[in-house]
Amino acid sequence: MEEFIGAWTARHGKSRDRLLPLLHAIQEEAGYVDDAIVPAIAQALNLSRADVHGVITFYHDFRRAAPGRHVVKLCRAESCQARGGAAIEEAAARRLGVPMGETRVDGQLSLEPVYCLGLCAIGPNALVDGRPVARVDAAALERIAAEVAA
Ligand code: FES
Repeated sequence: MEEFIGAWTARHGKSRDRLLPLLHAIQEEAGYVDDAIVPAIAQALNLSRADVHGVITFYHDFRRAAPGRHVVKLCRAESCQARGGAAIEEAAARRLGVPMGETRVDGQLSLEPVYCLGLCAIGPNALVDGRPVARVDAAALERIAAEVAA
């Protein structure tokens, strides 16, 4: 990953404002931002480790551990909550066999929160491996469960 960071900063620069784009690039490349590479990121951008760690932990989008083979994200923002998002979240955790924010022990699936997908009028909403699913209900959860079982 240090090679990746070196190549990325050679192309995109080493200024402090490159931190977020670099973290996104690392997550896209590796699936997550490992705590072990925080020192390399800090050194590359001339930041403290605390600066880098603070940004990684502040933004919900950054994972600090490898995700499952499938990733289901459920919207926790206001409109989806008003449309039954909390109940869907509980049902999803039961049906998919994994608590919110965790990866199933078999590595098949991660269930993650997301905070607004821009589809507020047709919630509650989810992302299944990056594909938006609107109006999530019990039937939609069954379809999602079948999809992520593969
Ligand atoms: S609040 Fe869920 S998509 Fe906007």
